[in-house]
Amino acid sequence: MKGKQKNKIMNNSPIGIFDSGFGGLTVLSAINKMLPLENIIYFGDTAHVPYGTKSKNTVIKFSKMITSFLIKQEVKLVVIACNTASAFALPVLRETFKVPIIGVISPGAKAAVSASKNKKIGIIGTEGTVNSKSYFKEINKISKADVYQQACPLFVPLVEEGWTSGEIVDNVVKKYMKPLLNKNIDTLVLGCTHYPLLSKSLKKNLGTNITLVDSAKATAQEVKSVLKQEFLFANKKRNMKIKFYVSDSSEKFRIIGRRFFGKKMSYIKKMEID
Ligand code: DGL
Repeated sequence: MKGKQKNKIMNNSPIGIFDSGFGGLTVLSAINKMLPLENIIYFGDTAHVPYGTKSKNTVIKFSKMITSFLIKQEVKLVVIACNTASAFALPVLRETFKVPIIGVISPGAKAAVSASKNKKIGIIGTEGTVNSKSYFKEINKISKADVYQQACPLFVPLVEEGWTSGEIVDNVVKKYMKPLLNKNIDTLVLGCTHYPLLSKSLKKNLGTNITLVDSAKATAQEVKSVLKQEFLFANKKRNMKIKFYVSDSSEKFRIIGRRFFGKKMSYIKKMEID
């Protein structure tokens, strides 16, 4: 009863989503498509991007600050739409805050295991995600598989600059994919939420025999199950709003973000969190 009373008040509270920059927009779009009545607050930590080359403690510090900010906005659930922050900060955030917190790695690992037939799975991600071995651990919890990892540190700066196709992108993609192509993988996990924006070039260079797994849809599915379990689905269509906050200039985010999000971002504010 107590739980239900709390939930009645909170049903139309927003879902909080964060990433270091544009990457989490891929997760936001999937959540918005699956749960179109939900209000959303998105935080892009553009002052501190990239997270992938930073230390675990630094990423935990930023993740805590952003989650505190989102909780002040009265979010009912937080999605860490960033693999690096999921790898480093998910347990700490769950210990520190009371709202449900969902990361992208476990949904991505599950999706990879169900997509792979030969159980030879490639993982591409930031240096932080790759060094944490989080995908390796999550995948092997579910099924025995050969997991091959490759860090792709130049992908995030390319995406943040809005460079998602063309000769330079293709050359960088080719260079990073080469070691994985020798491993007979049938599935490749895009273990960074920025990487789906490079799918076209990845597909072109990997051929048609390798399935690309993007954790966005699987994460949206997880958000849906948690909201259902907690009786937290939004119920008022008229109130649906998506607000964006960034920790650096909002202008660049507006211009490049719109290309990735596909819709006009009418509410964007700069918010310093440190
Ligand atoms: N998009 C994030 C990830 O999924 C962070 C990338 C970065 O800032 O390096 O890992």
